[in-house]
Amino acid sequence: MDKFVIEGGRRLSGSVKVSGSKNGVLALIPATILAPGIYNIFNTPNLRDVWTMSQLMNSMGAFCELNDNTLFVDSRNLNKFEAPYELVKKMRASFYVLGPLLARFGEAKVSLPGGCAWGPRPVDLHLKAMEKLGAEISIDGGYVYAKAKKLKGTRFNFDVSSVGATGNMLMAAVLAEGTTLITNAALEPEITALARFLVKMGAQIDGIGTSQLEIHGVNSLKPVDETAIPDRIEAATLLIAAAITKGEIEVKDVNPYHLSSVIVKLEESGCDIDVTGDTIYCKQDSDPIPIDFTTSIYPGLPTDVQAQWVAYMLQAKGQTKVTDTIYTDRFKHVPELQRLGADIKLIDNSAIINGGKPLSGATLMSSDLRGSASLVLAGLIAEGTTDVLRVYHMDRGYEKFEEKLNILGASVKRMKTELI
Ligand code: UD1
Repeated sequence: MDKFVIEGGRRLSGSVKVSGSKNGVLALIPATILAPGIYNIFNTPNLRDVWTMSQLMNSMGAFCELNDNTLFVDSRNLNKFEAPYELVKKMRASFYVLGPLLARFGEAKVSLPGGCAWGPRPVDLHLKAMEKLGAEISIDGGYVYAKAKKLKGTRFNFDVSSVGATGNMLMAAVLAEGTTLITNAALEPEITALARFLVKMGAQIDGIGTSQLEIHGVNSLKPVDETAIPDRIEAATLLIAAAITKGEIEVKDVNPYHLSSVIVKLEESGCDIDVTGDTIYCKQDSDPIPIDFTTSIYPGLPTDVQAQWVAYMLQAKGQTKVTDTIYTDRFKHVPELQRLGADIKLIDNSAIINGGKPLSGATLMSSDLRGSASLVLAGLIAEGTTDVLRVYHMDRGYEKFEEKLNILGASVKRMKTELI
């Protein structure tokens, strides 16, 4: 198992490129089930979650192979309609296959994902949406069994905005008979990118980029190539890495529009930000101003950046409140940050941070993807050495992250460890 060994106290500077969006690609891959054929997905990040989704597709008879950030997908021989527990438990996004399997084959058996490191993450909305499209759903032995001779267009309102359930319903509805109207659809860029991909494949979708999607079902779709959008969460993490070390960096190959809310917060915290085309420049040369952070659905502040903001605010002299309204238990990083000497209290779904206190290196345990990013960021400013264990969590969603940080002047070594 790998760990990161971080020597703190180095200021980051320079220029770095952002990879393709993990969450974006995880939605595109299952969409290839909808039309048998050959696809190339360019700008695919080489990440554990992408391998897991590819493994799942291959277990169903497809052939996926990643070479130099191009994912080749051949979905022609996909003929098994089951997502097994072993893969779904590794990655919840595996649940995305439910909609496309139902739409193309009229049946699917998909393991329930269960909880996740930071608490329960239900799939009730995915199931309700499929039922509304006419599928019969039953649950037995931890598996969802779904059947439908032909899905039928419907009207559906998401009482809670859900990225995954919107994506799943969209993929199911494009081949349904008639028109489907989805209201309170998720607005996240990864869903917009999925909708655009589906349209490129021949789907008819109105309202893309809005919370009301109208899908006119078609009989068939065709395979096409696509380029993944930039990873907005990786970009935000790198910008915070610059800010936390009082550094000055340029993050390239991003879509700044996807990061507007984060950019505003960085500016409020005292960063000098400049946006030019697909590049964001960020400079922080003093202690950050304490700035509260409350997550919400897009275009609000992403829950996937909450943990990183908590680490950043450890540098701010004064009190900050960081609240997660999307995943209210998502604070596994807090007890680990406390081991560095951080003064953080958890009250309900908020972290109350009394920042500006010195941090000293310690051994920390990652337990989820974004939480591990928060520990690495804190390691960059802690005095001495910080070991971050279980970086496989980080490897799920950050491509060559330690290499990128080292290019910017950090000292992060990946090492094998016996410690689990
Ligand atoms: C996606 C992202 C994840 C991000 C999250 C929120 C992927 C692969 N993952 O996850 O990185 O943190 O969006 O931006 O894209 N909910 C229900 N019932 C459901 C589904 C969701 O109650 O059936 C609730 C969740 O508990 C949560 C909220 O809806 O409170 C949003 O979750 P959702 O948008 O579905 O997250 P994911 O798609 O799982």
